Amino acid sequence: MSHTLRAATAADRDWLWTLSRATMKTHVEQTWGRWDDVEQAERFQKNFQPQRLQIIVVNGHDAGLLHVERTPADIFLASILLAAEFQNRGLGTAILHSLLAEAHREKLPLRLQVLKVNPARRLYERLGFTVTAETPTHYQMRWTP
Ligand SMILES: CC(C)(COP(=O)(O)OP(=O)(O)OC[C@H]1O[C@@H](n2cnc3c(N)ncnc32)[C@H](O)[C@@H]1OP(=O)(O)O)[C@@H](O)C(=O)NCCC(=O)NCCS
Repeated sequence: MSHTLRAATAADRDWLWTLSRATMKTHVEQTWGRWDDVEQAERFQKNFQPQRLQIIVVNGHDAGLLHVERTPADIFLASILLAAEFQNRGLGTAILHSLLAEAHREKLPLRLQVLKVNPARRLYERLGFTVTAETPTHYQMRWTP
């Protein structure tokens, strides 16, 4: 499944909130025992910085969110969220391959963190990420060129 990326804008906010809720609610409930819609919506709104975000586009359809932070020291995958109909079809793997190629080219580590309950960890491990630290809720993972 080929994809492109476009810059997010303020107009994407409602769709991105719906996407975040749809993709993360279960993982949050499994981790903290609850999902409070009002509290989560407020947190989303407070942290929403569209200039830092990209929309993953497949065949002209918005398929997901990609948030990558680049510093001179590393590349941090802050978030990748695919809508349900685009999951499990290799798209996440393809996007991670692009980021791994960039990390390899730039000779920089690629970092991310994942909730312990999230099966996405299997994907990251398959791609060569290793756990470098953990909190009660998250694993920190890193791929080093
Ligand atoms: C995680 C995610 C980006 C992976 O992209 P994808 O295109 O679905 O993944 P691929 O088809 O390339 O590879 C399949 C792997 O993705 C992961 N995955 C699939 N569906 C998932 C889901 N609903 N939630 C979390 N991870 C999922 C699994 O590790 C799966 O491997 P497995 O079959 O061995 O369990 C995507 O499933 C997603 O957006 N999930 C919901 C949001 C999320 O959890 N994001 C990651 C936050 S760290």
